[in-house]
Formats: sequence, C-alpha cells, structure tokens
Amino acid sequence: MSSLHLEANVGDIAETVLLPGDPLRAKYIAENFLDDAVCYNNVRGMLGFTGYYKGNRVSIQGTGMGMGSTSIYVNELASTYHVKNMIRVGTCGTIQEHIQLGQVLLAMSASGDSDANRNLFGGMHYAATADFDLLLKAHQAAKKLNIKTYQGTVFSTNTFYDETPNRWDVWKKHGILGVEMETQILFTLAKKFGIKALSILTVSDNIVTGEATTALEREQSFTDMMKVALELA
Ligand code: HPA
Repeated sequence: MSSLHLEANVGDIAETVLLPGDPLRAKYIAENFLDDAVCYNNVRGMLGFTGYYKGNRVSIQGTGMGMGSTSIYVNELASTYHVKNMIRVGTCGTIQEHIQLGQVLLAMSASGDSDANRNLFGGMHYAATADFDLLLKAHQAAKKLNIKTYQGTVFSTNTFYDETPNRWDVWKKHGILGVEMETQILFTLAKKFGIKALSILTVSDNIVTGEATTALEREQSFTDMMKVALELA
C-alpha cells in the first residue's frame, strides 16, 4: 500500500522523519549525513530517503514550500506510514535585530496567516505548539554540541511576496523570532494525529533590513541545524 503522493511501501519510512522544504536538500542530507540511504519516493520529484544516522533509522522527506504542500506530506506520513516524530529542518527570515544570520532557532510555537488553520477551528485561533520532549532533546543536543540556539515563537505565512507596509511591526513587538512557511500546519496536524513535531530553523535573512547569508554561512548553519536534528533520530 502507498498513499496518493508517496510511492513508498508501508514500512519503508522510519518512525522519525526530518522534513526539509527542498527535495534536493533531502537528497543532500541523505548523501552526506546518512549511511545506507535508499530513495523511497520520486512522485512529483518530492524526494524521500530512509537510512541510518549513528545506527538509528531515520527518513528525510521533502515537503515543498508552504502550508498547502506541507500538509499533504504530513497527513500521508502520519496516516498511511505511521510516522511518530516529524521534525522540520528549514530556513526562516528574522524580524528581530538581536538575532544574527546563521543562528539556529528551535520553534516552540507558530502563529500564522493560513486559512487552513482558521477554517479548521471555525475562525478561532489555535495555539500551534511544538512537542516538549523533542524541544527539550533538541536543546540538550545543541548544548552538548556547543551549538547556540534561540528558543521561541515563529510565524508561518502563505505569502512570501507581500508588499503591505510595516507588515511585521506588530509581530516583532510580540516576540516573533522568525518567519517561514510551514511550521504552523506541521504543529497543528501533529497534535491532530497524536504524534510529535518540532521545527528547527536557520536564519537565512533579515526581512526588515534585507540582509542575507552568504553561501558559506548558509552551509555552516545548515550543518549545525542538521547535527541537532539528527540527534533526535
Ligand atoms: N519569508 C518567508 N519564508 C522565508 C523567508 C522569508 O523571508 N526566508 C526564509 N524563509
């Protein structure tokens, strides 16, 4: 048996799955961090791999960008493949001055502008929250690896290009550390399916100043994020 957007057989996907947005990132992670990685999905080019990290079985599945695409993979991984832990590994833009590019964020919660979240709760506002065990483990792993992390709240948007003036002022005031496009629906669906979720993000740009990381900085912060995430396998 497989699902609509994944051609893996049940059993091909590990209980813990890391979720990069970019399917080619999934391939890069599988090739550079895992042992004995096998590709289990190529439907729509949304690559997925299962392999081993320090002897622990783990999968890496691309989600595509945005909450619409992400929700499809989270749904199918949970309902057909019985995945128990989903950890997004991605990038975000920051809106805070005190957060430098290249930092690693552990998302405790996610606000957002997704109609999926609004409709699901009849117009009310669900507090999408990370799993505490995964959050604690990630924090402990980062400390052990001497990787500095920020813990806090993020914002998931469905509009990457938005020209509303001062759009981020109120969110900045309310402590949003990073803006990205997937975490809110991941946390919401994880709770619905009774599974654990976390989102680990590296800061790739500052949305307010327009400053962005260099390729070298991106590679270093990506490696830091992956080392923390893979400790959760
Ligand atoms: N907006 C939305 N998502 C992002 C951004 C951004 O500026 N940077 C990285 N992911």
